[in-house]
Amino acid sequence: MKKIVISTGGGDAPGLNAVIYAVVRACYRRGWEVYGSRSGYSGLLDTDELIRLGLDDVEDIYSTGGTIIGSTNKGNPFSMAIENLAGEVQVIDFSDKITNNFNRMGFDCHIAVGGDGSLEIARRFAEKGMPVVGVPKTIDNDLEATDRTFGFDTAVSTATEALDKLHSTAKSHDRVMVVEVMGRESGWIALYSGISGGADVILIPEIPFNIEKVCEKITDNELHEKDYAIVVVAEGASAKDGQVISKGSGEVGRDEVVLGGIGEHVAAEIRERTGKDTRSLVLGHLQRGGSPTTFDRLLAMRFGAAAVRLIEDGVFGHMVALYSQHMNSVPLADAVRSRKKVQLDSDKVLTAREIGICLGD
Ligand code: F6P
Repeated sequence: MKKIVISTGGGDAPGLNAVIYAVVRACYRRGWEVYGSRSGYSGLLDTDELIRLGLDDVEDIYSTGGTIIGSTNKGNPFSMAIENLAGEVQVIDFSDKITNNFNRMGFDCHIAVGGDGSLEIARRFAEKGMPVVGVPKTIDNDLEATDRTFGFDTAVSTATEALDKLHSTAKSHDRVMVVEVMGRESGWIALYSGISGGADVILIPEIPFNIEKVCEKITDNELHEKDYAIVVVAEGASAKDGQVISKGSGEVGRDEVVLGGIGEHVAAEIRERTGKDTRSLVLGHLQRGGSPTTFDRLLAMRFGAAAVRLIEDGVFGHMVALYSQHMNSVPLADAVRSRKKVQLDSDKVLTAREIGICLGD
């Protein structure tokens, strides 16, 4: 009999519930107990926030977005910023308390489902002696140690569907539509959705752009009697001589800045330089919502089941990973070492160029 606790940390991604579903069912078959820690580590910090998860709790959840146990991208338990009534911020390390609660509750393993931030926290707990297994999640697909993270396919589908819809309105009004998509410092969502959604221009963080090249493409479209254009901009993209645009952190306890604003900036430049009627929109959290695609559901369930197999085999301090279509595992330290970027010589980049998409360079 084993007792497992699962947490979901960082920004949510479609497929989190499918992981929980697979973990609970795979554990049930082995006669193991599963608990969910609410909102990342809250359940391990305050054990009233632990929820016992049985088969009935997870019935049907595999097809739903979000996470039934909640998530947070604030509050690293190793340095949690707490604001008192006087508005003063204190930084407290709760990691010992969490480790003690984990041991006191008699847990055998913690399954940490998260992106690079949450997995780095999991790695630090593993270093403190907690048996941990990581599961890679993020719509950004920016984890180096796995071919794919779940959530990405759904985000790309949502963005592609939005681009399909924008074509007709852009065409009706002879407009340039600039669409800002998520992805942080990686251009995966922009590249995949931009190619699939027939974009004229795709701007990604890996290729600092020259706005003149972007405008040339739009003008060239007109020469070929296409009076509208679709421009996809990754939130982390920047001009060759420019900076990544962010809205700052803005929230107590949040380490990463909130990116956003490059879409409107690019739209303003295009408007001014080409005189074209130009609109911008930010797809934002639509990309994180909704039911996971079949690909994401299946990947999430495969990850969940593989995590349980690792526990059974006594392999801790590892993250499950997809490698050449197969389930694999890598040490957490390798999993969080670097972020996966779009390779400029990859066939996706070549495809974009060959079908005439301007990448801003
Ligand atoms: O990492 C996932 C992600 O959706 C990024 O693409 C985006 O920059 C960020 O999270 C947004 O975070 P928040 O939900 O806090 O606005």
